Amino acid sequence: MPTNTPDKDACELLDADHIAVKHLFVDYARHAFAAPEAAAERQPIALEICSELTVHAQIEEEIFYPALRDAGVADDLLQEAQAEHQQAKELVAQIQSASPGPALDDLVATLARAVEHHVKEERDHLFPKARAAADLDLEALGAQLLERQQALEAAVA
Ligand SMILES: [Fe+2]
Ligand SMILES: [Fe+2]
Repeated sequence: MPTNTPDKDACELLDADHIAVKHLFVDYARHAFAAPEAAAERQPIALEICSELTVHAQIEEEIFYPALRDAGVADDLLQEAQAEHQQAKELVAQIQSASPGPALDDLVATLARAVEHHVKEERDHLFPKARAAADLDLEALGAQLLERQQALEAAVA
């Protein structure tokens, strides 16, 4: 995943992650289409998706969502987002323990759809509300997210 840079505010940083993980899903699907029998070769992409999503969800849950909650941004949206993270985590756990093959392909496709839906919610509903919140410093929040993301990525590297 391309390393995030300090010039991004919180929403830009998180959306850069969304785009990067979308590329990984496309990459996985392309491999599955081009060489369906080479399931073991695309497994690393699935595992990369899982680790990127894990870090992304963690920085949202630790930093971004609480900041939005403190700023009074729609609590129902945040609860829904949290529930969707939970659903994604269960799929991630299944993918991480799956052997290469059609079952893994199905799990990755299911996760791709779930993430696509969740990202759309964040993009269309959560980020606009974050941008409209008067007492939310998205630049400072972006710096905090970046610092935590780099620390988490260094820990798993
Ligand atoms: Fe997100
Ligand atoms: Fe999220």
